[in-house]
Amino acid sequence: MNVVVVGSGIAGLTAALHAEEAGHSVTVVTKGALGDGCTALAQGGVAGIYGPGDSAEQHADDTMDAGAGLADPAAVRALVADAAERIAELISRGVAFDRTADGELQLGREAAHGHARIVHAGGDATGAAISAALVAAARRASMSIVEHALLTEVIVADHAARGVVLLIGGETVELLADAVILATGGAGHLYAHTTHPRGATGDGIAAALRAGAAVADLEFVQFHPTILASGPAFLISEAVRGEGATLIDDRGRRFTFDSHPDGELAPRDVVSRAIARHAAIQATPVRLDATMLDAEKLAARFPTIDRVTRERGYDWSREPIPVTPAAHYLMGGIVTDLDGRTTIPGLYAVGEVARTGVHGANRLASNSLLEGAVFGARAAAALGTPWRPISPEPSPAAVHEPAPLSSAPPAFTRTALQQLMWEDVGLLRSGAQLARAWATVRAWAAAVPAPATATATEHEDANLLLLAEATAAAALARTDSVGAHHRVDAPTPEALPSSRDRSSILEAV
Ligand code: SIN
Repeated sequence: MNVVVVGSGIAGLTAALHAEEAGHSVTVVTKGALGDGCTALAQGGVAGIYGPGDSAEQHADDTMDAGAGLADPAAVRALVADAAERIAELISRGVAFDRTADGELQLGREAAHGHARIVHAGGDATGAAISAALVAAARRASMSIVEHALLTEVIVADHAARGVVLLIGGETVELLADAVILATGGAGHLYAHTTHPRGATGDGIAAALRAGAAVADLEFVQFHPTILASGPAFLISEAVRGEGATLIDDRGRRFTFDSHPDGELAPRDVVSRAIARHAAIQATPVRLDATMLDAEKLAARFPTIDRVTRERGYDWSREPIPVTPAAHYLMGGIVTDLDGRTTIPGLYAVGEVARTGVHGANRLASNSLLEGAVFGARAAAALGTPWRPISPEPSPAAVHEPAPLSSAPPAFTRTALQQLMWEDVGLLRSGAQLARAWATVRAWAAAVPAPATATATEHEDANLLLLAEATAAAALARTDSVGAHHRVDAPTPEALPSSRDRSSILEAV
């Protein structure tokens, strides 16, 4: 088959390599250079190696717990079942995961994991190591590679995907194919503050929406709790808290225990909200305190974080550093089955762009690289097999159109959109905020002309507007609070004991 893979992170390159190795003719299209994107920035690691006392079942339980009851058990089982094989594949492709003195894989721990089961490379440079190995493998393979190409449309004819339309150097180019695999990542730039690189403007989800594919769960946006609150967004890995660092308020108190018995190792959504609430009542940002960890250990285990924090004027081995949440991951996306099939025959989606059901309402740390590898491989294996129609999960009931705004909205700019999303469709949201945001975005979408020139920014803005409208509508439709979707007008108690034994976590903190 002729297969076009759009995106060159772990999901896209895994799918492309597996498809090529299975004898398909593969073209990889990517918005920047090969390997630009979120994968290369990932610090934490890949969950899925089970030491003594741990198991795939416990990893599945932790994934289900983090997902706040909305993860799909079959998808979660598929994720953990293939974890060891995909990690072994990464090693065989050249990823040098960190090892102990005995040569065993060194396992790290992050929030809401019951055990240390996360492999990492270069300390906190896991994504860079994975990206380098997969990019090298893709360049060695016989696939075609098209860089600096923006996806503008999925071509659909006779109810099936037939290729893609791209913007390359100001020219519109059609690339026809028997199958299209979208692996374009997330849409962090919907928000004023994000860990995502500049290219994360939701191009794949927007193109799928325009093509008529089902999307779901867009209201579930994950905000990472600990971004350095100084300078451009820089993530401080959850693995730092996994090693024992704590979160403190301006009086030095570990405030996260007010929200959850697991404190700093509670699920990410809980910790982010605890920080946001504290930030609102104290004049200074909350701080991450890693001073109890040895300076040499910090530098060896977290070399990237050590370097960047020092470049920004902090000696984190001696003083707590200011942190704040930022948009980090979209749990929702294009609805797929367990093999990446979407509701449009011939169109597959893998990685962050997809809504496989593994994350439910909140993703467990270090499950995203794993998801990309597992479902990238599964989608490639499904190529050429008979198409099985999928039926999307029912979403919350649609809501009525928002009341028109009482005054004219401000002029549309990308910055205005990102600020609106941050303030009104953010970590803590209310029905009134969501209705106002939805109405504002609709007014902008009606006023902003469809992209008429070959300028990438115009297409990206149109994609962000489309996604913002869908995200605000989805958040308004879900009237309860669950996982990362927290309605201040329908709050839930934060302290929810999970199904697994928490005692080891409590000992660790
Ligand atoms: C982190 O290192 O804290 C981020 C890992 C992830 O998003 O899974």
